[in-house]
Amino acid sequence: MSQYNIAVIRGDGIGVDVVEEGIKVMDAVGEHHGINWTWTEYPWSSDYYFKHGRMMPEDALDTLAPHSAIFLGAVGHPDVQDNITLNGLLLPIRRRFDQYICQRPSVLYPGVTSPLSGKKPWDIDLVVIRENTEGEYANIGGFAYYESPEEVAIQTSVFTRRGCERAIRFGFELARKRDKKKRVTSITKSNALGFMTVWDRSFDAVGEEFPDIETNQLLIDAACMDFVRRPEVFDVVVAPNLFGDILTDIGAIISGSMGLASSANIDPEYRGPSMFEPTHGSAPDIAGQGIANPMAQILTAAMMLRHLGEEAGAQEIERSVEKVLEVGETLTSDLGGNSTTAAVGDAIVANLG
Ligand code: NAD
Ligand code: IPM
Ligand code: MN
Repeated sequence: MSQYNIAVIRGDGIGVDVVEEGIKVMDAVGEHHGINWTWTEYPWSSDYYFKHGRMMPEDALDTLAPHSAIFLGAVGHPDVQDNITLNGLLLPIRRRFDQYICQRPSVLYPGVTSPLSGKKPWDIDLVVIRENTEGEYANIGGFAYYESPEEVAIQTSVFTRRGCERAIRFGFELARKRDKKKRVTSITKSNALGFMTVWDRSFDAVGEEFPDIETNQLLIDAACMDFVRRPEVFDVVVAPNLFGDILTDIGAIISGSMGLASSANIDPEYRGPSMFEPTHGSAPDIAGQGIANPMAQILTAAMMLRHLGEEAGAQEIERSVEKVLEVGETLTSDLGGNSTTAAVGDAIVANLG
């Protein structure tokens, strides 16, 4: 019997509902695989902010530290400036636990229609490795003459050679493990932003350690175009923080829906808890209606199991999601169905094993 104590942060909007389904599925998988889950709920969210004036308590990061992993829905509320919610909860967790890898697969599953014409199942099967703790998200900057006509706003990107290399190396190792196209594509904008050549040079240097892996480099604008024009050429894509963020929303929608886009914030060295949250946000436009697609959160749960060493359980979840998609009878509206969030979770539980 393995035992994990998971910190659960449902957050805001649809995060609340899709986390429910993720836990439902993991409880069922736990019974099949001798996994004993302890779910410790933390009500940190925008509602918490309305009551306490902060997104989470002062000692929240210390509270999270002993957990096996963090399972998070989404944060973001229309009545709170996003910078407050995200810099008050999500981003400090990524930084404190040095979750320097954000792994985001985009797969066109059988039964799912891509908005790109002529794409067949598995034509899109790529994974973006996003550097997740530095770059444009280093949070170094501020304002002078705030809210005056002379206002000055400055924010600095931080690219360290170590930060670039460790993210890029993870991408190469993944390409080897996936054993698919064995190709790693690097994304920057170093034609205009010259400092990003440190990423390019890191990519060249790390690439030399992997002679069996084909490499190429694209500028972010051209990469956005190729994600739409010919996504089938991509295998592993390594990108600095902001570009990885943008590319993974494109990756999500070309493979059918934001509601399928799983994601993991990982410390590959297991020094602290990694955090598992889907690519999508709190989706205020559909929140509270019980119609959000829980598959992204459930596939994210599979990534959590894999990270915890529960490979068989991870695969069982993935196979079940694939079955439900292929059968096509229990789907939410983003995939053309009319089922509820809970009904999709139930169908995935029913198709396990
Ligand atoms: P979003 O991802 O929440 O929504 C974008 C679009 O995709 C919306 O039309 C939404 O309805 C749809 N969508 C997203 N997830 C879906 C799902 N599971 N099922 C069906 N449809 C789904 O992005 P946004 O609207 O730009 O952001 C909303 C809020 O979430 C903002 O406050 C933003 O800052 C925040 N956000 C948080 C996270 C996170 O917590 N990890 C990620 C992205 C955005
Ligand atoms: C994501 C989100 C976050 C990010 C936001 C909400 C800060 O868009 O996880 O993709 O940019 O990392
Ligand atoms: Mn994003």
